[in-house]
Amino acid sequence: MKEAETISVMPAEIVKVMPAELQQLIQTKLEHAGLHTEQANEAAKHLVFADSCGIHSHGAVRVDYYAEQIAKGGVTLDPEVRFEKTGASTGIFHADNGMGQYVANLGLQEAIQMAKESGIAVVGVSQMSHSGALSYYVKQAAEQDLIGIAMCQSDPMVVPFGGADIYYGTNPIAFAAPRKEGAPVVFDMATTVQAWGKILDARSKNQAIPNTWAVDENGNATTDPHDVHALLPIAGPKGYGLMMMVDILSGILLGLPFGKHVSSMYDKITEGRNLGQLYILIDPKRFTDLDLFKERIETTVAELHQVKPANGFKQVFYPGEINQLNYEKYQAEGIPVEKNIYEYLNSETIHFDQYGGKGAFAE
Ligand code: NAI
Repeated sequence: MKEAETISVMPAEIVKVMPAELQQLIQTKLEHAGLHTEQANEAAKHLVFADSCGIHSHGAVRVDYYAEQIAKGGVTLDPEVRFEKTGASTGIFHADNGMGQYVANLGLQEAIQMAKESGIAVVGVSQMSHSGALSYYVKQAAEQDLIGIAMCQSDPMVVPFGGADIYYGTNPIAFAAPRKEGAPVVFDMATTVQAWGKILDARSKNQAIPNTWAVDENGNATTDPHDVHALLPIAGPKGYGLMMMVDILSGILLGLPFGKHVSSMYDKITEGRNLGQLYILIDPKRFTDLDLFKERIETTVAELHQVKPANGFKQVFYPGEINQLNYEKYQAEGIPVEKNIYEYLNSETIHFDQYGGKGAFAE
């Protein structure tokens, strides 16, 4: 496959599911796999949020993998979590390889409390499983009038700039800030041109990908999601530098495996992943008047909306706006979910042989 236009596409059948139903279906499946109710509930909340934002790469599509990982012991079902306060504004949340979305959220709550008390919090979540879409965490901080920054490690699947071998993960980073009127501004991205989940999504829909996302085993750009050998960093050496810094801050800083030593999502599905995530939360009140701060972000948003659109664009969106618009629409009208995922969620099935032992680029 060479050009996106020339590929015959088999569009996936989509069903619309109301958030409460999707929440219940995901929670039930994760509980069926062995997760305790409170943890399954939090993970389901997170996944429904991601799908509601249109981040389908990190929504219900992941449940099949999580269920297999949980059922095979890759997630600690009764994690002995512990918050170690290491200074007035610093701490480590030891997550004992508990369910990523659950333990990452517990760590976030510690960070929020600390930032409110001391003006800033730098909190690492140490030894967690996959934590999903980072928007979920930073948006919560911004809803409490904090500026939120989050970053985490991810399985190695990216070539460093100028290299042909894989070294880093898709190492995402997200930011959020509170606004006076609207929902917080949330910017959240993988440091690769696309997250691996987007390729997974394209694979499941049998859709071609742009030739700027990934390379095949010979290091050549590819449009076939089934041929992907490694992903490309955003903006060449700049994205490559950013993914290194994310790895330093969320991995090396917390004493965790780093770079190519970070665990693979599928390879050892029966073992804890030992991933790291870092939060930096800032209380704007310690720097400026909070109302003025929020007012000025509102002004920025309004001014961005007034920018004349370039040829081919209808309007300028503020960063993250498209996700927020999706959120409002899907929460009200139902979330688009692939029919095969919906059927899986409605079934009793827990797979034991879909993911385990496969390479980073398994479906
Ligand atoms: P993306 O490329 O879809 O979007 C990146 C950002 O750009 C978003 O904030 C989006 O709202 C904004 N944006 C997109 N189009 C825009 C436009 N026209 N105007 C203004 N802003 C626009 O996101 P990406 O990089 O594919 O990441 C998806 C998710 O994957 C994120 O939630 C990320 O946290 C998650 N992820 C999680 C990983 C993990 O291991 N936990 C690993 C990698 C990614």
